[in-house]
Amino acid sequence: MAECHDSSSLRLFTLGNTAQSRRLWLNDIPENGADVAHLNAVHSPSLLTNLGERYPFLLNFVGQHTWSAQWTKGEDHTATMTLSHNYTFGKFSVFRIDALATQIGPAHVRLLIHTAFGPILISQSVTPLSPLEQKVIHRFFSPAYNAPLTAAFVRGESFMFERDVVIWNNKRFVSSPAYVKSDKTIRAFRSWYSQFYSEGSLSFRDALRRHREPLDW
Ligand SMILES: [Fe+2]
Repeated sequence: MAECHDSSSLRLFTLGNTAQSRRLWLNDIPENGADVAHLNAVHSPSLLTNLGERYPFLLNFVGQHTWSAQWTKGEDHTATMTLSHNYTFGKFSVFRIDALATQIGPAHVRLLIHTAFGPILISQSVTPLSPLEQKVIHRFFSPAYNAPLTAAFVRGESFMFERDVVIWNNKRFVSSPAYVKSDKTIRAFRSWYSQFYSEGSLSFRDALRRHREPLDW
């Protein structure tokens, strides 16, 4: 795939971070990409200052992240999301990035980001440590000339990911959820993702029971 070729040419500078959560089901992480509506709900507050969260009337002065995205399932084991981000003061954008995320199988994502300063490729791998415990590794690749921005992205991505973890750690299981209109990509994602489960896969209900009564994994 194109993204793979890109990664070899970008392998000039690498950084990474690792996160771990104990209340996380494997599909929660890729589902985050299909949950387009959550981007402006969760990832809008500025990474530069929390003044906008504390004093909303200052939002136009401190700026915020504005997102638009489209998730599309493939006919195979891949799915893609096109993503646009702007850091905006009121209606004015001062920093735009465009990205293409490719979900490859149940636990790997390649995110190719285009910025005015150069490209960055983020590789995300998820390793299940137990049914509800996942280890998530982000590796960042970029040309050496874009190293300062990439280092900033490592920290920024880490802060953004922590916002998702807070939600994952407080979620509740609902067996037959009602979907609203903005959730239609979540429904499509769950249908697409079901190809990675087999008849022998552990159900969420059983996983919760085992989580309370630790057994071998
Ligand atoms: Fe998120």
